[in-house]
Amino acid sequence: MAVLTMQNRKGGVAKTTSVVHLATVPALAGKKVLAIDMDPQGNTSQVFMAMREGEKDISDLLFFDAKIEDIIVHSKYGVDVLPNNKKIQRPDKFFYQSGRKDKDLLLLRNAIESVRNDYDLIIIDNNPSADTFSDMSLIAADYVLIPVDSANFSYDGIQDELQDFYNIKENFNDDIELLGVLLAHIKPQTKLLRTQHDAYDKIFDSLLLKAVIRDDNQIAEALARYMPVYFYNKKTNAGADYIEVAKQIGIISLDEYTELSRSYIGKKNRFLPSFMQKEE
Ligand SMILES: Nc1ncnc2c1ncn2[C@@H]1O[C@H](COP(=O)(O)OP(=O)(O)O)[C@@H](O)[C@H]1O
Ligand SMILES: [Mg+2]
Repeated sequence: MAVLTMQNRKGGVAKTTSVVHLATVPALAGKKVLAIDMDPQGNTSQVFMAMREGEKDISDLLFFDAKIEDIIVHSKYGVDVLPNNKKIQRPDKFFYQSGRKDKDLLLLRNAIESVRNDYDLIIIDNNPSADTFSDMSLIAADYVLIPVDSANFSYDGIQDELQDFYNIKENFNDDIELLGVLLAHIKPQTKLLRTQHDAYDKIFDSLLLKAVIRDDNQIAEALARYMPVYFYNKKTNAGADYIEVAKQIGIISLDEYTELSRSYIGKKNRFLPSFMQKEE
């Protein structure tokens, strides 16, 4: 029912990683989830093994009247995927060359209308630039999450992202809400983290999520093998962290969290920095 978009015009800040895992966590809890891949690189489609190069994809749905049920791939990880098969490499160029206008930015919103109620969560991955595709995602969404890589932290990047958000909110999508900024790639030395967290939180006026994702090569290894981390190694640091984030942003219930914790969170991979405990 809720549509969540992952936005940050920088590359390599864990947008795709966050989409893959925040889609997988509720699916593991039995919820119906659709991941939409708006990035022509197709990384989310690849991880869910939903990419079929040369076949119809999200662009056929947006621009050529394809039927959504003919494009959705039921992945073996329990997440449905609207794949990007790299058919349109430069969405902006295509959009304007095909004579599209601003009102056509509603294309994604309209395209998913018919399946909106079939899913508990629809989550959108985006390409790392501000273009018509990322605007379409913001217009289609109820919520925005901005992942940032704290190692290569870019204040300007986030300011730009917030500007896009307010712009779309004002002109196209009144109802959209900012869920927050997610530190998606942090080194877990707690003292440094605490300082960093407080500093960022000040800058973003409490937009920073309490739950954070630790740097964890298990997740990179899993993704390189085209699988969400839970199917590669059940109990990992980043895997546990994504379950905490899912709980915090409300895409799984407390009961579902408790249930998932049994299988995927142990003493060794649980991570509760002090700024997180305060909230409990
Ligand atoms: N928590 C993490 N720990 C270690 N590596 C990570 C983590 N999150 C993401 N990565 C790696 O960082 C790189 C960029 O992440 P990705 O999700 O593809 O970013 P984006 O989609 O924003 O370009 C990938 O190689 C990914 O495997
Ligand atoms: Mg990506």
